Amino acid sequence: MTGSVTLPPKYDAVELADLDDPYPVYRRLREAGPLCRGGPAQWVVTRYADVAALVGDARLGAQFDRAYHRIALGEGPLADFFGRVMLNSDPPVHTVLRRLLGREFTTPAVRQRRRRIDMMVDDLLAPVADEGRFDAVTDLADKLPIRVLAEFVGVEAEDIDEIRPRARTLSQAFATYLPESGRAATVEALVWMRELVAAMFEARRRVPGDDLISRLCEVDQATADRQALIDNVVFLLFAGFATTTDLLSNGCAALAARPDQLVILRADADLVPRAVEELLRFDAPVQVKSRLVHQPIEIGGRVIRPGRVLVLQLGSANHDETRFERPGELDVTRHPNPHLSFGGGGIHLCLGAALARAEAASVFTFIARRFARMEPEGPAVRRFSPNFRSYLSVPLRVTPS
Ligand code: HEM
Repeated sequence: MTGSVTLPPKYDAVELADLDDPYPVYRRLREAGPLCRGGPAQWVVTRYADVAALVGDARLGAQFDRAYHRIALGEGPLADFFGRVMLNSDPPVHTVLRRLLGREFTTPAVRQRRRRIDMMVDDLLAPVADEGRFDAVTDLADKLPIRVLAEFVGVEAEDIDEIRPRARTLSQAFATYLPESGRAATVEALVWMRELVAAMFEARRRVPGDDLISRLCEVDQATADRQALIDNVVFLLFAGFATTTDLLSNGCAALAARPDQLVILRADADLVPRAVEELLRFDAPVQVKSRLVHQPIEIGGRVIRPGRVLVLQLGSANHDETRFERPGELDVTRHPNPHLSFGGGGIHLCLGAALARAEAASVFTFIARRFARMEPEGPAVRRFSPNFRSYLSVPLRVTPS
């Protein structure tokens, strides 16, 4: 680069994590240029066109040096674990893991379990119609995804309450940097989850069932070693839990704050699949995705060199006015809706997208059919995190139809 160059704006992940509404900041960053400066050796991309192209770009990889994980997470089992999960693997390791775990979560496989998901939603929400109030986090979102996943994976129902807090703790380690103070609890959660899943492999080896672990027991050591399978099942248990939990609670909060949108949905429940896509776009549970640059990439006249990290800001891309009309408005009829909340067209596109969509469709169909009104009963409380959009509590009042 030559001549007088203005430095791209700084992307302050810590400051952003504390904002109730980061979208105006994202807009200013998009307007300032295609790149922002992140942490050391790190660039952040905020515009839709760039994020959509880069998320599936083969010049970028997902597998970081173990040293990178050790800097972010400290010495010990966390770096080892995060280095082994499929989200952070490149082919050929990624290809094998994706094939083994992916077949459980295809659209047809999920469709087969849809009735069961509807029954679980009914169990959780039918009493709410009588009581007239509920907390979308504690009474619904914290309970449904983990129950659904438990059945897919083969976890015993009695272990669910013990898994929930540990899965939440582990998901904090997705942060680009996990502070010292959070590490001991996260290691403890990981060790516990690994032991639980290893014991489940033993149990299913002896008595197989109709679940993921039973099928993984048949995989031979030459295809994938047992510890890699255990770690990837642990990963599924928290990757599929915290994210879907956040979609349900963010979605309930957004709908409750906009009664006109619930009216539209109630008039035509066939709009629910569009509403789910819009809720995913509007407040994406996963806001950022990091990739490692393998080959030089030019963005806005600047060449990003191999070894640098590119942070793809999915939440900002979803609100880019050059791609979405009135991006700050929730519009349950929006179509098409090419949001990037599950990543883009690349090999890492969310493995659980069909399952998350099915759970959300089931919940919002129930709400559209059974609640004439759903309004905030008090202030919703955010869980602040640099990577996720999430709530601790969303108290709601409902009027049954
Ligand atoms: C609303 C809920 C969800 C959201 C917003 C979400 C989001 C994401 C995102 C952004 C990625 C990374 C994509 C990329 O790197 O290009 C991802 C990957 C992944 N997700 Fe999800 N996810 C959700 C639900 C689930 C569920 C229910 C499961 C489990 C069944 C799951 C399992 C995974 C796995 C295993 C990967 C890694 C895939 C790979 O590396 O090939 N996710 N997800």
